[in-house]
This record gives sequence, C-alpha cells and structure tokens, in this order.
Amino acid sequence: MGKILLTGGMGFIGSHTAVELLEGGYDVLIVDDLSNSEASVLDRVETITGKRPGFVQADVADAGKMEKIFSENAIDAVIHFAGFKAVGESVAKPLEYYRNNLDSTLTLLETMKKHDCRTIIFSSSATVYGDNSPAPFAEDAPTGNCTNPYGWTKYMIEQILKGLSLAAPKMFIGILRYFNPIGAHPSGLIGEKPNGIPNNLLPYVTQTAAGIREKLSIFGNDYPTKDGTGVRDFIHVVDLAKGHVATLKYAEKGACGVEIFNLGTGVGYSVLDIVNTFERVNGVKVPHVFAPRRPGDIAECYSNPTRANTILGWKTAKTLDDMCRDAWNWQQKGSRA
Ligand code: UD1
Repeated sequence: MGKILLTGGMGFIGSHTAVELLEGGYDVLIVDDLSNSEASVLDRVETITGKRPGFVQADVADAGKMEKIFSENAIDAVIHFAGFKAVGESVAKPLEYYRNNLDSTLTLLETMKKHDCRTIIFSSSATVYGDNSPAPFAEDAPTGNCTNPYGWTKYMIEQILKGLSLAAPKMFIGILRYFNPIGAHPSGLIGEKPNGIPNNLLPYVTQTAAGIREKLSIFGNDYPTKDGTGVRDFIHVVDLAKGHVATLKYAEKGACGVEIFNLGTGVGYSVLDIVNTFERVNGVKVPHVFAPRRPGDIAECYSNPTRANTILGWKTAKTLDDMCRDAWNWQQKGSRA
C-alpha cells in the first residue's frame, strides 16, 4: 500500500477510482486544475469512504507545481486521468487538445523520471482501434485511423509510453483502453457532470428523462446491427475504477514493461437497448427520434476483455440495469447539488 497520485482525480473516472483506492487502504493524492470538475467532489469522496484524499489544485503541465508535489510526497505510482476529452470540441480546437494532453503527459513523465517513480497507469480509449477491423477488439488489433484529435492524443500518448518503456525497462506502464464508461457511484454522490449540452449518450438520456432536454436523437438506425442502431460496450464506472486497482496490484507484484488492457464487459448493447432498459428500470420515459448517423461513429465497438480477466483477475460485475439505475439516481440526486 502506498501513496497514489491521481492526475485529473476530481473527474468522472478519477473520482470513482479515488473511492476504490481509499476503500482498498491506499493513500490518495489528487492533482487537478478543476477545469472540468468541482471542488465539492473531495467532500463527496470523503462522505462515501470516511477518508479525505489529499488535493493540489494545479495544471499537470505546470512543471514547477509537479516538481513540488513529487518533492513533498513519496509517490509510489501515478494514475494519469487528466486530459481534455470532448470529441467534438477536439475537432474545433485541435491545437489546444494536442498541446494540453501531450504537454501534461510529458511534464508528468519527466517529473516521474527525475524522482524515479516507476509506475504509471494511463487512461487510454477504445477509440485507438478506429475502424481498422471489426469488433470485438483484442489488444493486438490494429490501432490508428482515429477520427478526431482527441483520439489521436490517446494514440500518440500510447506511442510515447511505448518508447519510454524501451528506454526505461524497469518501469511498469499500464495502458488501459476504456470502452464506454457510464453509470455512477450507487450512493448518487459522484457521477458524470458534462459541461453544457452532453455529447455522450448516457448524460443525454438522463437529461432527457429529467426534462432538461426535449428529446434524444438516436444517430443512425440503418447500421448493420441487430436493430440498426449503434452498438457499444457500456461499462459501469465502478467496475472500471476497480480495473485500475487491479492493475496497480498487478504492478505491485513486480511487473514491468508496457501492459495494455481493454476494460470492457465484452458485451455489446445497442442505443435502443439503452433507451429501453433505462425506461424499464427507472419507470421514466426517454422521448427519442431517429436522426442521421453522426460522422466518425462506427457501427459496433465492443471489447474482448479476456486479457484483463485472466492476467489481472478482474471482471465486470455490474449489469446494464445497474448502470441505468445508478445513472438516473445520480441525475436526480448528486448532479443537482
Ligand atoms: C465517444 C468517443 C470516444 C470516447 C468516448 C468517451 C467517438 C468516435 N468516440 O465514444 O473516443 O472515448 O465517447 O465516452 O466520438 N448516440 C446517440 N445520440 C446521442 C449521443 C450518442 O444516438 O445523443 C449514440 C452514438 O451514435 C453511439 C452511441 O450512442 O452509437 C455511443 O455514443 P457516445 O456516448 O458519444 O460514445 P462513443 O461515440 O462510442
């Protein structure tokens, strides 16, 4: 058990991972600039776990502040969540996305090198698989052909980490390729709080059910899928968070080198499955219409999670019902406070 630095630890996935780490007995220090999160997350994490994580408000690209954090704390491992993540915005502001996501990662890695911190777990994305091959995607499936700058930053950071590993073979570098994280902590205290009009499906569904949005547009009903709508591997954010703890425990056993793991359920559900399940488990209506396909979307994206299941001993436990119920609980409870 050691001290784990979470960059971007106040965000959706970071805050859930902070909870799992604290409950697992780890010491957690968060660095976050609060550019897409709120300070109240600290209180909420404390309410859930009974422990308050350490917190420094800083941009990870600020070398001076990162140096201070590493000189004042014995950091055993870093989980690097910090980054801009809005796909559409990345198309409109490519330079900001490349500058922010790459600069912060390089500054973090340089500071880790200086302080001989040898374990990093990076938030990558299934988006790196692009449309090179059909689902299910295993970790050795071809990558590249990303459809937007956000996706390319994930791809490029993976390359940076692979290059670093060749020069620093004693490091453990975990690359976690997330599929579609949804849901929220069952307490309803932490969850996803998008800025403005949501781009992702679940926040749009919950806001439509709550009457904040008039209706959901389902992007495409002519895909070659079971009901014509897009198919994704939706994973409960608590299962996803536990995947980080499992990766850390694997690193603690003395693993080194680059290890890539898909974090998904291995099951694809369609957009209509989501709408129908959400309406059934929550007893609410989600008004929806069919709209044209969204540029850059692929028909089906789901994982082969065997590698994480066997090597990490990690497997998702939550159902689609759980995901829809917890997302609605969060919308009604925590997201409004
Ligand atoms: C997207 C990004 C992915 C990123 C992830 C973060 C792309 C190509 N992929 O995944 O890189 O890591 O978000 O969570 O942009 N949908 C609707 N109506 C809506 C919103 C979405 O029908 O209002 C559909 C989409 O067409 C898609 C599915 O719902 O079929 C999931 O969409 P979304 O939640 O945006 O995630 P991805 O596009 O899979």
